[in-house]
Amino acid sequence: MSITIKNEKDIAQMRIACRLASEVLDYIKPFVAAGITTGELDRLCHQYMLDEQKTIPAPLNYQPDGYPPYPKATCISVNDVVCHGIPGDKVLKNGDALNIDITVIKDGYFGDTSRMFIVGEGSILAKRLVQTTYECMWLGIDQVRPGAQLGDIGYAIQRHAQAQGYSIVREYCGHGIGQVFHEEPQVLHYGRPGTGLKLTAGMIFTIEPMINAGRREIRTMPDLWTVKTRDRSLSAQWEHTVLVTETGHEILTVSAGSPARPTISVAV
Ligand code: MF3
Ligand code: CO
Ligand code: CO
Repeated sequence: MSITIKNEKDIAQMRIACRLASEVLDYIKPFVAAGITTGELDRLCHQYMLDEQKTIPAPLNYQPDGYPPYPKATCISVNDVVCHGIPGDKVLKNGDALNIDITVIKDGYFGDTSRMFIVGEGSILAKRLVQTTYECMWLGIDQVRPGAQLGDIGYAIQRHAQAQGYSIVREYCGHGIGQVFHEEPQVLHYGRPGTGLKLTAGMIFTIEPMINAGRREIRTMPDLWTVKTRDRSLSAQWEHTVLVTETGHEILTVSAGSPARPTISVAV
């Protein structure tokens, strides 16, 4: 296993797969409201992928070593769920903060993106954590250009999260992606500048920081998928798939409904 450098055809296919993944989030957004179950949101996404997009949900039956097959089309992680929340009969209520993570396969190429949603009026903490995590993802993306190093991405994310008093989950990271769901390199969301792999044009990977309001430790539930914060504090995550270009980067997981880039107010 090694890092794949994508050619023009790969890049064209990845633009399509990634846009489609983002369009699933555009589609589901109006349904995210108090009273709906996460299982119903998953069912709607799955149906949209199959019927409208002719895409395949990558999570369904995905089975990395040591895991049972993932049972649903999407991951929906509510409040203290860090990632890999399995959609089911959980009913959303006012104030819930949730991540919907979509990975679609189109013509053999994987597009992977996630966004946060807050149901109704969120708490000040939830809004601040969701916003800071969004900023962290963007600060990481801003580092991406040929010659930069993976540690530069991790450091930019870590610095901002910690300046706000939040912690970074270390057990999960961004990843190379293309015709394989998870490939090299691992993109850590913490690190030291000037360390790690040097980026070159044609690399494609995700940046997907998971940030906790409390401590960074996690606990995996008996279903062997659902990951929660050990201290039950709130957790947030955003994810884009990004291409390293000759001059910088191109975010691939964009669509009409993609939230705008933030204006970042860095704490001093
Ligand atoms: N989409 C997730 C990621 O960003 C992976 C989900 S794996 C699953 O890498 F099996 F839980 F769906
Ligand atoms: Co990912
Ligand atoms: Co994802």
